[in-house]
Amino acid sequence: MRPEPDAEAVAERILNAALGTIDILAIYLGDRLGWYRSLARDGPASPSELAQRTDTSERYVREWLEQQAITGLLTVDGSHRFTLPQGSAEVLTDSNSLNYLAPLARIFAGAAIQLPALHRSYQTGTGVSWSAFGADARESQADMNRPWFELELADALGKVPSLTSRLQAEGARIADIGCGAGWSTIALARMFPMAQVRGFDIDAESIELARTNATNATSAGSAVSFEHVDAADLPSAHFDAIFAFECVHDMPYPVEVLAAARRALRQDGTVIVMDEAVAASFAAPGDELERLMYGFSLLICLPDGMAHPDSAGTGTVMRPDTLRRYALGAGFTDVRILPIEDFGFFRFYELVP
Ligand SMILES: C[S@@+](CC[C@H](N)C(=O)[O-])C[C@H]1O[C@@H](n2cnc3c(N)ncnc32)[C@H](O)[C@@H]1O
Repeated sequence: MRPEPDAEAVAERILNAALGTIDILAIYLGDRLGWYRSLARDGPASPSELAQRTDTSERYVREWLEQQAITGLLTVDGSHRFTLPQGSAEVLTDSNSLNYLAPLARIFAGAAIQLPALHRSYQTGTGVSWSAFGADARESQADMNRPWFELELADALGKVPSLTSRLQAEGARIADIGCGAGWSTIALARMFPMAQVRGFDIDAESIELARTNATNATSAGSAVSFEHVDAADLPSAHFDAIFAFECVHDMPYPVEVLAAARRALRQDGTVIVMDEAVAASFAAPGDELERLMYGFSLLICLPDGMAHPDSAGTGTVMRPDTLRRYALGAGFTDVRILPIEDFGFFRFYELVP
């Protein structure tokens, strides 16, 4: 048991949290207004230069640049020109880096925009759907997970040779349910070039984004396609593997979807779920990962799930026992945790038919 903090310690903590919130909201502005990208691409700038380059208001640009220098994300020289140092540039603009965290600001700022709707939902037990969170949530989600799928997924799945050997075969069929912007689907298509890989999502805008991403991605593999379909309506006895990346906890009806996934497997097929690597049971106070996941849950995932009637109301903190309960309810006989570690915030499960 940690000792109870005194008022001074709590006050200091809240002050630090306020400073962090200011950073997150200011990062959102710099990301969405293209200021970081311009500083990274076109080099140091005075307020008037950055305003001109990005077609934004000089007075606001000056305040933001000064705030960013004061908070330590930019540096400034004697003639009031501002530089984005290499480390800040990687974290705030390099979408191919595992350190890319500008999207984290986008999802929390995007949730803050929805606070009036969240307030109403908390009173009435309704929710705010994924589509209502809009581009901020959709693009943040996609950009946060993209480098992991592109850089790390092949090695991670390589630790499960029984799965990968089957998917290397000619004619293998793979589904990626809740595929979002499709980066996992594209990564799977690259990994398994002989397979047919289909991404499914219930959100029409995500499917549009996924199609665009696949068109623009180099060597996405020839056989990747995206469909605007509820994963509860998968075709029967069709797939050798069904992946569900960070989406089961969002689903209002996870047992129905997992039951459909089980029916959609061919003989000896398997379902792989990647979801948050939260602790096996609730224990407070929690570590940073648990704190982050409860943050996502309060502000995005639980309200998203609750936006549908009679929702399971899972929330982001889906502990292994909860997934096991859903999987057994869907007719699976067992749930195994796969030996994939250090993959972002995630744990991989295999659901055994
Ligand atoms: C948090 S996002 C994850 C997206 C993507 N898998 C990733 O890792 O970036 C959850 C996704 O699940 C989708 N989803 C939720 N319920 C679904 C269902 N019943 N069928 C298909 N997609 C669903 C949402 O539309 C959303 O795109």
